[in-house]
Amino acid sequence: MTLAGKTALVTGGNRGIGLAVVRALALAGASVHFTARSAANIAAAQRALGPIVATGHHADMTDRLAMTTLFETRFDILINSAGIIGPIGRILDVSVEDWARNIDTNLTAAFHTTQLALTHMTRTGGTIVNVSSGAAHRPQEGWSAYCAGKAGLAMLTRSVHLEYGDQVRVFGFAPGVVDTDMQGTIRASGINPVSQRPRSSLAPAAEPAQAIAWLCTPAADPLAGQELDVRDPDLRAAARLPPLA
Ligand SMILES: NC(=O)c1ccc[n+]([C@@H]2O[C@H](COP(=O)([O-])OP(=O)(O)OC[C@H]3O[C@@H](n4cnc5c(N)ncnc54)[C@H](OP(=O)(O)O)[C@@H]3O)[C@@H](O)[C@H]2O)c1
Repeated sequence: MTLAGKTALVTGGNRGIGLAVVRALALAGASVHFTARSAANIAAAQRALGPIVATGHHADMTDRLAMTTLFETRFDILINSAGIIGPIGRILDVSVEDWARNIDTNLTAAFHTTQLALTHMTRTGGTIVNVSSGAAHRPQEGWSAYCAGKAGLAMLTRSVHLEYGDQVRVFGFAPGVVDTDMQGTIRASGINPVSQRPRSSLAPAAEPAQAIAWLCTPAADPLAGQELDVRDPDLRAAARLPPLA
């Protein structure tokens, strides 16, 4: 798998799945950039990466001006990974402000980065991976904002494919249930069946990251435009992930 000569941007690349994707893309030979919301978070990510080189940018995904400035660099690969789970609570128990913040982060910000990326990619080609979720397709109690935002993101994936699929490859990708801080927040909430899963049952972030790096290669061309899931046996085999037990 080689991504030599490609320039990639990973949003929310300072921890969790985003950080693992930064590592996987860099190891595949891409020149990798990532966003983080503070200089301290950039430094922590670079410490975690060790000898792996990646360029951190201090930017909040919801800051439209910062994102526009960031895209003065032309990216061949865009990974929309930044996301938040909250507000966690049943519909009567969450505020409209918190609900809107989730949609702004998980959906509207991804629309903005997509729009910025497409201005360049429609001329040169490129790959966009939207980090999706099973929650895009199945409601979970207490996650109305998260489910609605991820469902919207899945439709954004399909819209990009419909409008620009002859120039740009776009994928939705559900990473499975992954051992990150987000799952720690989910476990602490205790609100739905996902929160009851023991930490020992969760997958390491390196697994979805390896699959996402594979999606960035031409081998994944036939799957463009689809919502994919790391638990799919054929996809796992193609991305050289071990079969699930
Ligand atoms: N973990 C799972 O089981 C799972 C399952 C399905 C889908 N996903 C999806 O996978 C993606 C990564 O999740 P994760 O589990 O790695 O979560 P995580 O450990 O909580 O990390 C989330 C990342 O997103 C960043 N972020 C959040 N809001 C942001 C904003 N406004 N601007 C810039 N960055 C922002 C965070 O930055 P800070 O460090 O500054 O907060 C952090 O880098 C998300 O889209 C999530 O919905 C995860």
